[in-house]
This record gives sequence, C-alpha cells and structure tokens, in this order.
Amino acid sequence: MTRVSIVGASGYTGGELLRILLDHPAVEVVQATSRSHLGEYVYQVHPNLRKRTTLKFSDPEQLEPVDVIFLALPHGQAQRKIEQYAALAPRIVDLSADFRLRDAATYEKWYGEPHAAPQWLSKFVYGLPELHRAEIRSAHYVSGVGCNATAANLALLPLVKANLIESEQPIIVEIKVGSSEGGAEGNPGTHHPERSSVIRTFSSFGHRHTAEVMQEMGVPNVVLTMTSVDLVRGALATVHAQARPGVTTKDLWKAYRAVVAEHPFLRLVKEQRGIYRVPEPKILAGSNYADLGFDLDESTGHVVSICAIDNLMKGASGTAVQCMNLMLGLEETTGLEFSGLHPI
Ligand SMILES: NC(=O)c1ccc[n+]([C@@H]2O[C@H](COP(=O)([O-])OP(=O)(O)OC[C@H]3O[C@@H](n4cnc5c(N)ncnc54)[C@H](OP(=O)(O)O)[C@@H]3O)[C@@H](O)[C@H]2O)c1
Repeated sequence: MTRVSIVGASGYTGGELLRILLDHPAVEVVQATSRSHLGEYVYQVHPNLRKRTTLKFSDPEQLEPVDVIFLALPHGQAQRKIEQYAALAPRIVDLSADFRLRDAATYEKWYGEPHAAPQWLSKFVYGLPELHRAEIRSAHYVSGVGCNATAANLALLPLVKANLIESEQPIIVEIKVGSSEGGAEGNPGTHHPERSSVIRTFSSFGHRHTAEVMQEMGVPNVVLTMTSVDLVRGALATVHAQARPGVTTKDLWKAYRAVVAEHPFLRLVKEQRGIYRVPEPKILAGSNYADLGFDLDESTGHVVSICAIDNLMKGASGTAVQCMNLMLGLEETTGLEFSGLHPI
C-alpha cells in the first residue's frame, strides 16, 4: 500500500481527498492535519466520513515520512515550506496556486508578490492529466489546478488542439461558480443571507486563473469573467471564440469526439432531446468527470464551447488523485469512477 498524508485535511479540498483516498484500493491514509481541529476525529469535520474511518486530525508540524504528501493549504503556504515537505516524501501534489505557473515573473505579476521558492517552479508539472499525462507519470512534484482554469482549459482543449479557432483573437470565457470554491473559511460575502440566491459577478477580468489558461492553452488574448451563482459545488465555463475561416460543425464534432475518446474523464454532452442537452454541473457533484459541449454559428464563425465540472473534484481533489495514480503507475481512474448522482 502507498502511504499518503494530507496537509490541510479539514478544508473542503482536504475533505474530498479524504473521501476519495479512504476508498482507494492502493492507498493508506497515514496522517490528516488540522491545527484548529487537532485530535478530533476527521468525521467530526467531514460528517460524510462517519463510520468510514477512525482517523484523527494530527499536527502539521508532526508529519511522518510517507510516499506521497498532498498539500491542501491556502495560497502562499506551500511555497514557504516546500523544502520541509520534500524532505518527508518523494512525491508531492500541491493543490494550491503556488506551483502552477512556470515563470517567477509571471507569478509575481498575477499574484502581486515575489515567489518564495522560485527555484521550485521548474520542478513542478502542471497537474492536469489531459494536458500533461506523460510528464506527470515521471514527475515527483505536481501542482494543483485552478478550478475555473480547469473548466476554461478543458472547454478550450478540443478547439486549440485541432487548431479550429483564431487563438490571437479575443477569447471570452464566462464562468459561473459555486460557493465551495472559496474554501471552508467564511467571509462577509459567504454569509448565508448575503450569498444565498446570488448571481454576482465578482471579477470582470484579471482573475488570477487567467494566467493558467494563457500558459496552458497558449491564448494570449483570453478574458475570464467570474460570476458566483447559487450552488455549493460546480463550475460552468462558457467560451466564446472565433472559428478559423472554413471551419464547419463537422470539424467540431470530430475534434470533440477525438478529445473525449482520448481522456477517460471527459465526456461529450450534445443531445437533441431530453433535459440534459448541454453540460451542467449539477449532475457532476462528487464526480471527477468533466462534461463538454459546443455550438457553431457557421454563418459568422462564432463558436461557443462549454465545460461543466465539480470544482472540488475535477477542479481540485479528483484531478490531484488522478495525478497521484499516474505518478504511481496505477490505472489513472483508480478510486475515481463515481458516476455522480441523479436526481440530486
Ligand atoms: N475550493 C476549491 O474549489 C479549490 C479548487 C481548486 C484549488 N483549490 C486550492 O486548494 C487549496 C485548499 O483549498 P480549500 O478550499 O480546501 O481551503 P480551506 O477549505 O480553507 O482549507 C485549508 C486547509 O488548510 C489548513 N491550514 C490553513 N493554514 C495552514 C497553515 N499555515 N499550516 C497548515 N495548515 C493550514 C486548514 O486547517 P487548519 O487551519 O485547521 O490547520 C484547512 O485544513 C487552496 O490553495 C485553493 O486555492 C481550491
């Protein structure tokens, strides 16, 4: 059994890591840390895990050596202690934004401060298997992915891979997100009377995840507009782009079919009948699947591409475990094949 520990296990992504890894056939969870819940059973914070484990939260300063460490910490923490974590485990998956960008100057531009461990940036592989499967297989250090960036990157993937859109032209990505994206720590904006029933645009452009989309998709002219909606889990990215001259709907079908055939967690949702004709996050809650859809106005070349995910799964912990599976030489889908619930 591979011995793994989770640092920051009382948070939302840490809770999802626990849920997945406790059922994972090749893994034993050794430690799950929390300073504020030290000594408590993990199910006291994550009630869905009651009767699934007797593990208690441990102190992040008392980590034992293991095979894999998952870091599920707030932004900026992992980079300050990366040497210490690396001394404890040969493989690390960091869910934060600390090691997602390859370039220290780009990091400083988007995050507003110098990186605390810039020499580590080149040691990490960007942790989206749909983009870096081969590198992740041989990597020791894998970054997390931004949940909004993941929805945007996967919506763009078939278009960019098949070279179907004008990648220098403006690409607009409207993203609607649920409240768990903000983590377990509350703030005035997440207070129930203020957050409930909202459709609230909180970032017109300049969202930090834009840097991940630029880096990974090679699209310099991309804008992410972020809107909070009345969901707990889920992110929906709607891309608007300009098709290259002569691109047809048939070309898009071919590109999307090729991408979903290549990647086990990508599915094409483009139905003529029924309620679920296009991707939507609701039926993905708890699942690692990402649903893709598209439309093309052939008269103008306007393309719409859609990706729905669960932000805590494909947008964070599910993808992190998918990366661990690849790093360990396991089947990529191990422990991740939950279909989602319907109705929900
Ligand atoms: N939420 C999402 O949808 C999502 C998606 C993709 C990526 N991410 C990224 O994943 C990371 C975790 O997100 P989250 O939503 O799970 O956050 P969260 O719910 O706020 O959880 C943070 C965890 O870190 C622990 N922690 C905080 N400061 C610490 C410190 N200095 N040393 C040790 N432990 C510390 C907290 O527990 P104690 O304070 O009790 O120790 C808690 O367990 C973030 O970097 C986030 O950007 C989140």
